[in-house]
Amino acid sequence: AEPGWTETTDVLVVGSGIAGLTAALHLREHGLHVTVVTKVNIDDGSTRWAQGGIAAVLDPLDTPQAHAYDTEIAGVGLCDPAAVRVLVEEGPARIRELIRRGAEFDRNPDGSLMLTREGGHRADRIVHAGGDATGAEVQRALHQAVRRDPWIRLVEHALVLDLLRAEDGRACGLTLHVLGEGSEDGVGAILARAVVLATGGMGQIYSSTTNPSVSTGDGVALALRAGAEVTDVEFVQFHPTSFVGATVNSVQRPLISEALRGEGAYLVDEAGERFMVGQHELAELAPRDVVAKGIHRVLRATGADHVYLDARHLGKEFLEGRFPTIMASTRAAGVDPATELIPVAPAAHYASGGVRTDLHGRTSIPGLYACGEVACTGVHGANRLASNSLLEGLVFAKRIADDVARDLPAQADAVCAAPEPAWVADPAVRADLQRAMTRGAGVLRSADSLATAAKELSRLAEQRSRPNTAAWEATNLLTVATALVASAQSRRETRGCHWREDHPAAADEWRGHLLDAVSSDGTL
Ligand code: SIN
Repeated sequence: AEPGWTETTDVLVVGSGIAGLTAALHLREHGLHVTVVTKVNIDDGSTRWAQGGIAAVLDPLDTPQAHAYDTEIAGVGLCDPAAVRVLVEEGPARIRELIRRGAEFDRNPDGSLMLTREGGHRADRIVHAGGDATGAEVQRALHQAVRRDPWIRLVEHALVLDLLRAEDGRACGLTLHVLGEGSEDGVGAILARAVVLATGGMGQIYSSTTNPSVSTGDGVALALRAGAEVTDVEFVQFHPTSFVGATVNSVQRPLISEALRGEGAYLVDEAGERFMVGQHELAELAPRDVVAKGIHRVLRATGADHVYLDARHLGKEFLEGRFPTIMASTRAAGVDPATELIPVAPAAHYASGGVRTDLHGRTSIPGLYACGEVACTGVHGANRLASNSLLEGLVFAKRIADDVARDLPAQADAVCAAPEPAWVADPAVRADLQRAMTRGAGVLRSADSLATAAKELSRLAEQRSRPNTAAWEATNLLTVATALVASAQSRRETRGCHWREDHPAAADEWRGHLLDAVSSDGTL
């Protein structure tokens, strides 16, 4: 759409979770003016829902090499070792910075940081806050720091639409729809000397997810429309233990942190048997894809919609002190983990792939950066290691800020926006899309299930609407779901969180990355 109004800033950051806000704060250290736009309110993204913590080498007996090893084992051959090295080596300093910015992590009586363990880690290296409310504390601290800085302009209720490009192809701003502002249809433009996408994930393509309702793949869809390289989107991680018995809103389910298993809770089936023992040397604390698959096998064999997590032996006092968020969400639904088994099942949790970047967060389009879940920096490979995601946001946000400051051209005129999508989807397709993706492209996939999903997505894409926020979100969901299904069809092997029933083994020929694209006129 033609922008009805235009603003300018030095750097435009899209998204207000750990990646976006940290990038904004580092950019300010370089003296740049920053505008942060966010789709709903500043705290509405995934960060505040994070429970378990942030992984980093903070124990003198732990080493960056050990953290890298665990990260690469979880990533099943697809991690970029250079990106992993950056993550594990720079992580501890970024956590100390976050503490200086005001985040308060749980501490031992001697004042040292309390460290726990989650799936796939062979050492205690996860810092947490408020027991199991790490994300909420991180979001609180970053939110306050951003609000204190008058040179960070925050624009809430702003959905980004498309990338603006200068004559030389460089990113020079975005079009966006701000509710209640500007021209009749509310579409405006913010011009910037660099653009940072930090829009988070896409869990809303499934019928059950730990992600909030805003996680609709907006950044990946925008990047696809703009022709930026997008990769690894077939690797959507399913968290093994979402709480079955309540939803936060529509499809979002409360998370039961892996840290609960880290502290000794275990999984049992209907008969009370620990089915993960014998499947992997780390049993319930195997990497997340292994545990999600173990649960899925039980669900398929029994026809049940959940297994159980047994935390009763940890005791009421410990559970209430260490896991207040989980105790509140389960008890609100009538389940008391101190005395009862917790019904759990896998739910879509994290997009390991996304907009491809280098070690400085640069995408394939000059001037466009990507940070956090929207990005594919190469640190997660085929399956992200627990608690590496908040860490990735912290580490690469700083690298991006440093790179932007090193090489920031003057503001260019926008000569073109990405092609208008030839269509805008009907918001009513959202539930059908979620069902189709859950059935056909969820934890377990096959050529047949993916073909059925692809057909259903094409049918849904024919249902059109007038442009508005819900319609653009539906368009983005369809765009990323279609890319995911296409990649999942192409990858004829099982690796990490991509599980093909018809190709059950990993194959060396697939030890590489698939690029996703939409056609040049923006159609699927
Ligand atoms: C959890 O607390 O289990 C989630 C941690 C993560 O997603 O890394």
